[in-house]
Amino acid sequence: MQDLISAAQKARKFSHAPYSKFHVGAAMRDEAGRIHAGANMENAAYPQGWCAECSAIAHLVMAGGVRITEVAVLGNGDTLCTPCGGCRQKIREFAKGDVKIHCCTEHGKLLQTFTLEELLPFSFGPENLK
Ligand code: THU
Repeated sequence: MQDLISAAQKARKFSHAPYSKFHVGAAMRDEAGRIHAGANMENAAYPQGWCAECSAIAHLVMAGGVRITEVAVLGNGDTLCTPCGGCRQKIREFAKGDVKIHCCTEHGKLLQTFTLEELLPFSFGPENLK
């Protein structure tokens, strides 16, 4: 888990958040054990910005990853930074309900681990469209 948290911390340094000043880093492990990270990217046209989890998911898929098997997220300071509602759904696209989401402090201390199912119960996913 520590490798994942360290990757999220490194990614957070690339956060572009001049408006909220809330810098987020996320890292995701794929089914092959590889780690893919990302940061939030804000935009002067505010709604065009995106979350750290989106960047990480894009990196995972573009590297040939198929499934998310573990996630780490960290924001500013010591407050719990869980994935936003939209990101929970985006993670859901590539993850099963038992996937662990580690929420950490800016300095990498683990605060709380959730499963995706806990954060997004009764979710709608790809299986619904089969
Ligand atoms: N943010 C994320 O990157 N991930 C989340 O799950 C929560 C929110 C970002 C979006 C925006 O750039 C900043 O945090 C403040 O909302």
